[in-house]
Amino acid sequence: MSGNITFTMIKPKAVADGNMGNIIAKITEGGFNIKAMKFTRLTKEQAEKFYAVHSARPFFNGLVTFMSSGPIVAAILEKEEAVQSYRNYIGATNPADAAAGSIRALYGTSIEANAVHGSDSDENAIIEGAFFFSEFERF
Ligand code: RTP
Ligand code: MG
Repeated sequence: MSGNITFTMIKPKAVADGNMGNIIAKITEGGFNIKAMKFTRLTKEQAEKFYAVHSARPFFNGLVTFMSSGPIVAAILEKEEAVQSYRNYIGATNPADAAAGSIRALYGTSIEANAVHGSDSDENAIIEGAFFFSEFERF
């Protein structure tokens, strides 16, 4: 059975474009309950650690530079089947391929600046949530 928790970040370009409020509204309209939320900025070292799974990929350095380039919003979200439901809701990795009306279609501007992150498994949702929220075990 799937868990009811996922983790998201609003990425630097979406924050810089002034779309933080729109995206948070869209998240709650989608029935995702915000359990924790933080406005913060990743250091390069933190971004490297967060995306360590992608360290061998050609886009890794660009991704780490981008994700540490400005403030982000990190949040833990709750909904039934949270991980899959949220990935469907945000749309495909490349905003050009994302379904009309999805968060990435609305607010993403490139495959890198694709507005939001969404966890890809229940296990990673817990790991990623704990990366930002030390009080996570209380939720
Ligand atoms: P995310 O982890 O951010 O929710 O995105 P995702 O699962 O849809 O995509 P993933 O394969 O995990 O890739 C992580 C992030 O790396 C950037 N990326 N750039 N330049 C490229 O070809 C490329 N491919 C991926 C994207 O920002 C993606 O969200
Ligand atoms: Mg991913």
